[in-house]
Amino acid sequence: MRVYKIAAMGGDGIGPEVVEAGVQVLKVCAERDGGFTLDFQDFDWGSDYYRKNRVMMPADGTNQLRKFDAILFGAVGAPDIPDHITLWGLRLSICQSLDQYANVRPTRILPGITSPLRHVSGPELDWVIVRENSEGEYSGVGGRVHRGLPIEVAQDVSVMSRPGVQRIIRYAFKLAQSRPRKLLTVVTKSNAQRHAMVMWDEIAAEVAAEFPEVTWDKMLVDAMTMRMVMKPQTLDTIVATNLHADILSDLAAALAGSLGIAPTANINPERDAPSMFEPIHGSAFDITGKGIANPVATFWTTSMMLEHLATSAGYPRRRVCLTPVPHRATADQWEANIEKYGAPTWCEWSPRDAGRCRLCSGRDQSSRRYLLRYEPVPRSVGVGSIDRPTLSA
Ligand code: IPM
Ligand code: MG
Repeated sequence: MRVYKIAAMGGDGIGPEVVEAGVQVLKVCAERDGGFTLDFQDFDWGSDYYRKNRVMMPADGTNQLRKFDAILFGAVGAPDIPDHITLWGLRLSICQSLDQYANVRPTRILPGITSPLRHVSGPELDWVIVRENSEGEYSGVGGRVHRGLPIEVAQDVSVMSRPGVQRIIRYAFKLAQSRPRKLLTVVTKSNAQRHAMVMWDEIAAEVAAEFPEVTWDKMLVDAMTMRMVMKPQTLDTIVATNLHADILSDLAAALAGSLGIAPTANINPERDAPSMFEPIHGSAFDITGKGIANPVATFWTTSMMLEHLATSAGYPRRRVCLTPVPHRATADQWEANIEKYGAPTWCEWSPRDAGRCRLCSGRDQSSRRYLLRYEPVPRSVGVGSIDRPTLSA
């Protein structure tokens, strides 16, 4: 039987709580499937580790991770340690060292969740944002000299390489091609950034020629924010630089009703190192330890993980279907839902406490009890369509 080795790294804040929930779900999925097993190893790297060791992870940390098939990551960040230390000490260095250059962020409005957009009921918003995850504005190149002096200088240099841009644009075209609408929007800012972003546009046009079935257009990032709000139905797959997609994906999560449900996958498409799966929401110190963190983003990312693992082994694809049950569901309604959606492959997960989830701004009616189904997905589902089949009503 195929054994997948999974590194489970809760990290900081609510990270360990949601990762624990995700691990439970993954265990049930493996049990129900019967065709593979998951071998978990916990990692205690993060801010507590830093307080003891003055580093976020051991010096050979990323090498230790190489032997795993995937990483499930919670969150990083603590109020008493500067963010650039915690982030570059752990998450960003893992992404860079393991060359997880494609950051994939699906956004959909799940059943039970209301979008703040009054003209959107649900199906109009179904996007996947592909974020360049290895260079660009977050390359880490730069420096600071003459600290504190009147002549101080600081630079963060945005680095874009032809192979770096080619590979992310190609990944996005492939993903767009695998989705029913075959529609890609390339986000740019070449009107103001006249070097790298002009190259970005040129490379997009070159790569587009390899994908004649994909309809694509180009959008300046500022105008893109307006289009996401005013005409969400005109978008499907979106590719953008590290910084642009970072910002646009927070907007996407808010428009879909909650940051608490937004997942991401840091993918190494060549599979020469493990990919890393995580919720986008971060460590949320204010609700840490209260048992009210919304695990939906983590559930969603675990389903992305299963799809990724399954495609790597030539193994039949699998998906996790998540069915949010109304949070005041009676026992009868709950049973009815199990009957309708569940059997035989379902598991139940509910937070320890019925408190209100802060991450959802009160919009997420689904943050109480979840019904999860695990089922095979036909092979006809296109490569890279990891977002579409993963959640269903
Ligand atoms: C995200 C997060 C991270 C990012 C932070 C924590 C560095 O906000 O996943 O979008 O922006 O890269
Ligand atoms: Mg961000």
